[in-house]
Amino acid sequence: MLIWFFFSLHSFYPAIFFAMKCWLPLLPVLSTLLCLSQGDVGDFSPCLNFFYRYWPPSGLSGTPICQNYTNRYYFATLYSRERRSPWFSAYLYTTPAGKRPKGVWKYEPQLANSNASGVMLPFPIPPKKVDQTVVKSQAVQQDYINSSYTRGHLNPSLHHQNRSERRSTFTLTNVVPQKMDSNYGPWSELESNVNVTLNKYCAGPAYIVTGIIPYRMDRWLKDEHRVAIPEYLWSAYCCPTYSQNLPESLRRTFPTFAAIGRNDPNSTEEMVPVDRTKKKFVGYDVRPMPLTDLEIYLRERYGREIAVFSKQCL
Ligand SMILES: *[C@@H]1O[C@H](CO)[C@@H](O)[C@H](O)[C@H]1NC(C)=O
Ligand SMILES: *[C@@H]1O[C@H](CO)[C@@H](O)[C@H](O)[C@H]1NC(C)=O
Ligand SMILES: *[C@@H]1O[C@H](CO)[C@@H](O)[C@H](O)[C@H]1NC(C)=O
Ligand SMILES: *[C@@H]1O[C@H](CO)[C@@H](O)[C@H](O)[C@H]1NC(C)=O
Ligand SMILES: *[C@@H]1O[C@H](CO)[C@@H](O)[C@H](O)[C@H]1NC(C)=O
Ligand SMILES: *[C@@H]1O[C@H](CO)[C@@H](O)[C@H](O)[C@H]1NC(C)=O
Repeated sequence: MLIWFFFSLHSFYPAIFFAMKCWLPLLPVLSTLLCLSQGDVGDFSPCLNFFYRYWPPSGLSGTPICQNYTNRYYFATLYSRERRSPWFSAYLYTTPAGKRPKGVWKYEPQLANSNASGVMLPFPIPPKKVDQTVVKSQAVQQDYINSSYTRGHLNPSLHHQNRSERRSTFTLTNVVPQKMDSNYGPWSELESNVNVTLNKYCAGPAYIVTGIIPYRMDRWLKDEHRVAIPEYLWSAYCCPTYSQNLPESLRRTFPTFAAIGRNDPNSTEEMVPVDRTKKKFVGYDVRPMPLTDLEIYLRERYGREIAVFSKQCL
């Protein structure tokens, strides 16, 4: 209680200064709409079905992308043009069947030219042929080549049933620079645990939002000031209809669950402590937590109120 009080005091004043434009505490829906509509090409209205109660997370501003692959909407992403990387992707979980597809990496033509179609396209081969307006407007494959980071999906292909859904996740606007040990270690374990838990115990739709926590001072892939590196990844789900026979260990993971994962072994440990007794992936721990705790950490780092789900999924 005391800690909560401290955080709320601490973050109230910065919130007013940093987020004047996006800060209407009594009208979260209205403020979301205002924040998201500031001079951006996209808007979430055609893909609000990927958000619980048609309500995108409030408190973050960026370019909304309704991810359109082969003329269908598959999920939604809030993209930062300045950072050339996403703030979050939001999607509906569906039970996976079959293997991970071989990904063909794609880009969003509408970011480079607002007249272009909003359907994602594969990068040309060889990659050098990418149009310079595209290179300016978003991350491209060359950004990741020779860097010490892998392409980390926010919306992972694992959480989707069919091939088209899975292929649609291979767009670089759904990807952040993620250390290999996080991507193939504890973060992948988290995705897998969520897969198993939702399959067994979620009885209706499961809405997932996965996003990033930036460094206090931005860091960039290959120091090129193009693609910003996240210090942490976070993920949360909302499953309003779930099994009445939850095992004791999962009681607190419904209807909501959240987690924060480290992307830098040198980060301090107040958000996510490091288990040094582990043999592998030391420093890339993932910490499960209640949704309310995640929102406290988001508020602390972003300096404003961030709500992931409408009325906390209640
Ligand atoms: C994207 O997908 C929808 C159908 O899901 C379609 O109606 C729409 O026109 C598509 N194209 C663009 C450019 O948004
Ligand atoms: C978009 O299309 C309009 C009308 O056809 C044209 O005037 C404008 O220059 C185009 N913008 C870009 C960025 O191509
Ligand atoms: C990656 O590094 C190799 C070897 O140093 C170099 O030849 C190549 O051009 C680099 N590629 C990119 C995209 O930076
Ligand atoms: C894949 O799933 C989507 C629903 O997300 C569905 O509309 C589509 O028809 C499916 N495609 C195939 C090939 O089964
Ligand atoms: C995901 O869940 C499905 C359905 O229960 C299961 O068959 C599959 O093995 C799971 N995959 C992972 C990586 O957890
Ligand atoms: C962590 O710090 C060490 C020592 O300063 C440095 O060599 C290493 O590159 C840092 N790791 C990351 C991921 O920044």
